[in-house]
Amino acid sequence: MTDIRTPRLLLRSWRDADLPAFAALNADAEVRRWFPGTLTCAESDAQAARLQAHIAAHGFGLWAVEVPGVVLFVGFVGLQHVTFPAPFTPAVETGWRLARQHWGRGYATEAAWAALAHGFGPVALPEIVAFAVPGNLASRRVMERIGMRHDPADDFDHPGMPEGTPLRRHVLYRAARPG
Ligand SMILES: CC(C)(COP(=O)(O)OP(=O)(O)OC[C@H]1O[C@@H](n2cnc3c(N)ncnc32)[C@H](O)[C@@H]1OP(=O)(O)O)[C@@H](O)C(=O)NCCC(=O)NCCS
Repeated sequence: MTDIRTPRLLLRSWRDADLPAFAALNADAEVRRWFPGTLTCAESDAQAARLQAHIAAHGFGLWAVEVPGVVLFVGFVGLQHVTFPAPFTPAVETGWRLARQHWGRGYATEAAWAALAHGFGPVALPEIVAFAVPGNLASRRVMERIGMRHDPADDFDHPGMPEGTPLRRHVLYRAARPG
């Protein structure tokens, strides 16, 4: 597994030392605003294990993000296979989740640029998608800043989200491999 470096960030495999900070961000209702509830420590640890297993299996995934020399773990950014059926699957999505104290510094955008470049470069994906609840403007802004495009005709109901709630409807963004 190759680490990915950007001017400020290191996207790397998960370590046990990341787990307390990951549990803290998953227990933050503001971080989880666009998801169905916060996670317990056990749920958070299990999710980190699944994310690392994806990296081990595919060579890419939702990497732990470190700011070398500043902070060992700020959250995750990266690529993963979409696991639910939808009109746009099979697909690889790009995604991000950062601890609140690290928002607003451009880390998500900087890491997402690198993830996209990795996906279109070494992984040679033809397309990468991203999706969010329509009201999640911070996440949509990252998608737009890295050049992804939204077509309202692609919007969909996320089968993993509770029916009859505003969390189910999602907007879809796409980026195609350059050239
Ligand atoms: C999505 C997330 C990673 C963005 O982190 P961030 O640190 O704000 O990201 P960046 O600093 O790289 O850029 C975010 C952009 O969105 C904008 N933004 C941030 N919060 C916003 C809000 N509430 N409304 C509108 N725009 C917002 C920022 O101004 C910035 O755009 P700009 O550079 O044009 O000003 C962070 O909000 C997060 O972890 N949210 C919780 C988890 C989540 O929802 N993940 C995505 C699920 S689809």
